[in-house]
Amino acid sequence: MSRLIKTDDSVVNASSNPAFSAILEASLDRRGLLKGLGASLALGLAGGTVSQLAQAANAAPTAPLSLGFTGLPFSTDDVVHVPAGYSTQVLYAWGDPVGVPGKQPAFKQDASNSAEEQALQAGMHHDGMAYFPLPFGSAHSKRGLLAINHEYTDDGLLHPDGMAHWNDKKTAKAQAAVGVSVIEVEDTGKGWRVVRPSALARRITATTPCAISGPAKGHALMKTQDDPKGVRVLGTLNNCANGQTPWGTYLTCEENWSDYFANNGELSADDKRYGIKATDAGYKWSETDFRFDRQITPNEAHRFGWVVEIDPFDAKSTPVKRTALGRVKHEGAMLVLAPDNRVVVYMGDDQRFEYIYKFVSSKPYNPKNRKANFDLLDHGTLYVARFDQDNTGRWLELTHGKNGLTAANGFASQADICIHTRRAADLVGATKMDRPEWIAAHPHKPYEIYCTLTNNSERGKEGKPGVDAANPRVDNSFGQIIRWFEGDNNPATTEFVWDLFALGGSPTGKGDKKASVQGDTFGSPDGLKFASNGLLWVQTDVSTSTLNEKDYAGMGNNQMLAVIPERGEFRRFLTGPRGCEITGIAFTPDNRTMFINIQHPGETSSERSDPAAPKAVSAWPDGAAGGRPRSATVVIRRDDGGVIGVA
Ligand code: FEO
Ligand code: CA
Ligand code: CA
Repeated sequence: MSRLIKTDDSVVNASSNPAFSAILEASLDRRGLLKGLGASLALGLAGGTVSQLAQAANAAPTAPLSLGFTGLPFSTDDVVHVPAGYSTQVLYAWGDPVGVPGKQPAFKQDASNSAEEQALQAGMHHDGMAYFPLPFGSAHSKRGLLAINHEYTDDGLLHPDGMAHWNDKKTAKAQAAVGVSVIEVEDTGKGWRVVRPSALARRITATTPCAISGPAKGHALMKTQDDPKGVRVLGTLNNCANGQTPWGTYLTCEENWSDYFANNGELSADDKRYGIKATDAGYKWSETDFRFDRQITPNEAHRFGWVVEIDPFDAKSTPVKRTALGRVKHEGAMLVLAPDNRVVVYMGDDQRFEYIYKFVSSKPYNPKNRKANFDLLDHGTLYVARFDQDNTGRWLELTHGKNGLTAANGFASQADICIHTRRAADLVGATKMDRPEWIAAHPHKPYEIYCTLTNNSERGKEGKPGVDAANPRVDNSFGQIIRWFEGDNNPATTEFVWDLFALGGSPTGKGDKKASVQGDTFGSPDGLKFASNGLLWVQTDVSTSTLNEKDYAGMGNNQMLAVIPERGEFRRFLTGPRGCEITGIAFTPDNRTMFINIQHPGETSSERSDPAAPKAVSAWPDGAAGGRPRSATVVIRRDDGGVIGVA
C-alpha cells in the first residue's frame, strides 16, 4: 500500500507541467524503470499524479530487506524499551570522564563537579553523533571513535543549587558542558566500553579555539576586540545534529545559538531575523561573559550559526567554522557525493518558517589524499529550496550578483550572503517550511533525500504564513517527512520532484492532528538516518508540553521507529524514558551495533529542572542510586549478534 500522500487538491497532474514531466521522465529513464515497469508506468507518465510517479520510481528493486522485530507499544515507563531479542547498554552519560590521559574526574551525583572537571567529562544533552572506525581508513566494527554533540544545558541539573546565585563559575561550567565529545570505544566481546585513557579523547567546548574559514573569514562583521582579524573564535555551542565526511571528519552544527546572546539596546536587522532579544533564553552567560552581550561585543553573534568541521583523528586539531555553508540555525549537515565526486551537503534551518539549504563544492572529493579534502567545504555554491505546488522544486542559488543578491539589495559580497543567509534566502523566494530538522539520503540512491519537518504550531495562524503543498496542515503539532528526488539522479542539480512521505499524528488525533502513516504512528519526527543497508530510522521529539496535553497522552514517551522506504511500514523499535527526546544515531559499518542518544530525560514543560527535585519525572539511567537524570549514549545490540532491525 502506498504511503505517498497527495498533499491537497492543488497537486496537479504531471502531464500538465512540461518541465516536471521532462525532469521525471528523464530521471525514471535513467533508473532503467521504463523498461522494467512497462505499460503501467507508461500510463503513469501520461496521466498519473506526481505521487503515483514517485511511487513507481520507488518500486525499483533494491536489497530484499524486511523488518525483523515485533513493534513495541507506546510506553510511559522510565526505561529504554527495545524489542524481544535486543539489549541495550548505557555507554556514556553526562559527567562520565571522556578519557583524556591523566585527567579523568569522576561524575559527582550531587553535581558538584567544577567547570574544569566538566571540561574533561561528557557534556549535557547528547544529540547528533557519528562513528569513525579505528584505525582511520578501516571498516572496523569493534573499535572506533564516537563524536557526540552536547546540545545545551539544563542549569537546574548542572549546578547543585540550579540557577540561583548566578556567577562566572556557573557560566564557565555551562560553557564546558556544551560542544562535542570525541571518545574511543571498543567492543570487548562482553559489551562496549569507553577506552580510557585514549590519546584521541577530547572535549570541544564553548571556549575551545576554532578557526573561521570560507568567504566570511576576515570580514568586518566577523572582527572583535579579541580577534581583530576575524579569523578565530572561541568555541562552538548548541551543537544539534551533525554530518560526517568521506574523508573522516565530523560536522557539528550550531543550532539555537541566538538563545545565548542578549541585546538590551536597539535590535539590529540581524538580531530580529535570527531572534536575538533583549535578554537571553535563560542561560545567563551574558551576565558574566561579555562576548554574549551584543551591546559590548556586537560582532560575536556573527561568529556562531555555522557548520563546524572537526578532525576526530587528531585530538590537537583546530575545529573549523565553514562559512561557505551559510549562517542559520543549523540542524544537521548530511553529505553525499555527486556522480562527479563533488560534495553535496544538505542542511535544515530549524525554526518555524525557515528553509532547507544545500551546498555543492567546486572541487571533487579526492579519495586518495585525505588532506586534499580539508578545504573542500570552503569553495562552492550555496542553494536554498523552493517546493512548488505541482510537486516540482528548484534549488535557488545564493551567489553574489545572482538572483538579486547585489549591493543594491544589501549584499555587497559573498561574505554578506554567508553571514546574512536567512535574509538572502528571503530575497530569492525560498519556501518557508515547518521546522526542517534532519536530512537523510538513501545509501543506494543518493539523489533520493528525506527531511523531517518536525512541527509548526504557528502555521496558518493570523499574521503567519498559511499552508502550502509541502506544509499542508495548520497548527501543525506532529510534523511530516518530506522527500525529494534530485533531477538527473544527481544531487548536484538544481531541479527536483518531491512528495510527502508521511504525516505524523496522534492515535486519537482528528483533522490536522491525524497521522497518515502505514504501521505505527509517531509525532514530531526529528532524528533521521539511513543505515548503510537502506533501513531508515526515525527518532521523535514530541515536546513535553504537547505530550502533557490530555488529547495526546496516548502517544507515550518519545521513540524511534524503522521503515524500509520501498515497503512503507513504520514499526516502533524503541521507546525512551520519561521526559526524554531520542536523538543522535550511529552505526558500526556491519550494522550490528547501533548507538543512539537519550536527551534530557526528566524534562518537564519547563526547560530547567528544579534542583530540589531532580528525579521528579525520571531517574534514568542511574535509578534510585543516582542523583539526577542524565542524557546518555546507549548501545543497542541484537542478542544473536545479527544486523539491527532486519530479518
Ligand atoms: Fe536541536 Fe532542531 O533540534
Ligand atoms: Ca533535532
Ligand atoms: Ca526537535
